[in-house]
Amino acid sequence: MCGIVGFVGKQQAAPILLDGLSRLEYRGYDSAGVAVVSPDGGIDVQKSKGRLQVLSDLIHGGEDMKGCIGIGHTRWATHGAPSDVNSHPHLSEGGKFAVIHNGIIENYVEIKEFLIHQGVHFRSETDSEVVAQLLEFYYNECHDFLEAVGRVLRRIEGAYALGMLCADCPDRIIAARKDAPLLLGYGDGEYFIASDVTAIIKHTREVAYMEDGEIAILTTDGIVVEDALQQPVEKQRHHIDWEVSAAEKGGYPHFMLKEIFEQPEALRRAISPRLKDGRVTLDDMKLSAEQIRNFSRIFIVACGSSYHVGMVGKYNLEHLMRRSVEVCLASEFRYSDPIIDDHTLVIVISQSGETLDTMAALREAKARGAYILSIVNVVGSSIARESDDVLYTWAGPEIAVATTKAYSTQLAVLDMIGLAFGEALGTVDSAEYDAAVEGLQKLPEQLEEVLANCADIQKFASEHFNHNSIFFIGRNLDYALGLEGSLKLKEISYIHSEAYASGELKHGTISLIEDGTLVVALGTYGRLFDKAMSNVVEVKARGADVLALTTDAHRAEMEKTVPNVLSIPNTVDMLLPSLGVVPLQLFSYYVALQRGCDIDKPRNLAKSVTVE
Ligand code: AGP
Ligand code: GLU
Repeated sequence: MCGIVGFVGKQQAAPILLDGLSRLEYRGYDSAGVAVVSPDGGIDVQKSKGRLQVLSDLIHGGEDMKGCIGIGHTRWATHGAPSDVNSHPHLSEGGKFAVIHNGIIENYVEIKEFLIHQGVHFRSETDSEVVAQLLEFYYNECHDFLEAVGRVLRRIEGAYALGMLCADCPDRIIAARKDAPLLLGYGDGEYFIASDVTAIIKHTREVAYMEDGEIAILTTDGIVVEDALQQPVEKQRHHIDWEVSAAEKGGYPHFMLKEIFEQPEALRRAISPRLKDGRVTLDDMKLSAEQIRNFSRIFIVACGSSYHVGMVGKYNLEHLMRRSVEVCLASEFRYSDPIIDDHTLVIVISQSGETLDTMAALREAKARGAYILSIVNVVGSSIARESDDVLYTWAGPEIAVATTKAYSTQLAVLDMIGLAFGEALGTVDSAEYDAAVEGLQKLPEQLEEVLANCADIQKFASEHFNHNSIFFIGRNLDYALGLEGSLKLKEISYIHSEAYASGELKHGTISLIEDGTLVVALGTYGRLFDKAMSNVVEVKARGADVLALTTDAHRAEMEKTVPNVLSIPNTVDMLLPSLGVVPLQLFSYYVALQRGCDIDKPRNLAKSVTVE
């Protein structure tokens, strides 16, 4: 979702801004623009609807725009259609201010009406333009850039990451944030703002994360940060230790495929440091065994695939902990008047750590007294910072919009929480515990095995990419797995798909099955294998084409009924979805490839959903 980059230094800004924006393309966008403080005075703005390449061609890779201070933006429209004029940066009417904005200004209508009444003329339909116009309005009163910014921030409501230029103060960028991601980068005599670190890692590894209410002033002398009360803030700097290559394709045709194949390594990073002498050891978690025993309610709250991790987690955690676990969509939870007290644990799951609904749910739960334990991939992200406890997934940067390695590592971390909590509560059987730890140790290797045998999946995808609708069916862990398989498929291939709990078929859904309907039958969960078989027979009898996924142990049995069977190595029950998800990811990938879809940047989607 929307990318922001800003640069202050001695080099020409525009090429650096374009490069930074290109590294944020994965977040999803519909238009792009840059603004540079021109050496001849004034602010030069260039923007256009469509791919960044269109903008880059327009300004010859940035060469046409002189000046060493500038801001760049990729927009994901919320207010006003994607168009040249609605693209950011927005210039104020008098041309003194240029603004880029991520988020939504909720009271923009009222401000716009006020400004129109004052004689200001608006060009765009966006909410963001009010920031540029209001800045100029206040600046005309106070003649002070920072003071005008302060007044604007006191007037606007909603969520924002803002980058602002003022023609009268050509040596600086002012940035501000509230409920939208923004970080500061510290180079050698050059300084940056960015929505995420991938945009600037080529130039610096020293970053600081802006907090809500803070304002940053960037000049070639450094960055000064103030809080909402205009008090100076000493920012804690973080060193980013992953390589630039981690955010590049490295020979793979798509980030998604690269990230699928990175899963064994990502899982090693997530699991190995947390297994010691045959025990799950969550050293990075602050919760004590006594606190764990004191929780009377447990929620898992997340969106999208992270929510699907929670769906698997519910089965595993309830089994290991003998406590009920409620899994909630963050967007529903936040408005549901949830029953929470200070004996409630809320496990928040988020790859980006910036998903707005998840963040809002976290705040709601925290305000009501819950303890927040989050599972997050992006280090230093907002959700990580606002949680009482955070377990990082260490999956490395995930660029493809469709999550793969983040899902797998979140799941492994959640399973380890289940084991550690089960041990603290004395509810987990010790033989089962040992088998699970062994299973976790073997997981990366088994995943490599699955990846090495993916030719069948590709073949099957090439025969079945033309379906209008595909169903995933399964029970228990296989149902939770199906939810993720189905989301993956619809996200990147645009094929309509639903996941159903197999037992529900007869309550309505089976009416949708007709000759040639493709059903992906998930039968990895050994305890319910016979039930899975019955459902396969049921849909086949109605004409369905079936692709089945099971374990090596049940493959032969499944092949008696289904010609197309994929299998995963045998493992303990709780880890079946961790292996089973990989063939489903690959199936979606190859189907989307056959259909010529934009796999890494599917239509209408953004990597990190920082608006409601
Ligand atoms: C997954 O493929 C999706 N892109 C999406 O459902 C995602 O999982 C969801 O938006 C949550 O994101 P988060 O994990 O960064 O909070
Ligand atoms: N709400 C703004 C707009 O529609 C910003 C959207 C974004 O975050 O890209 O222009």
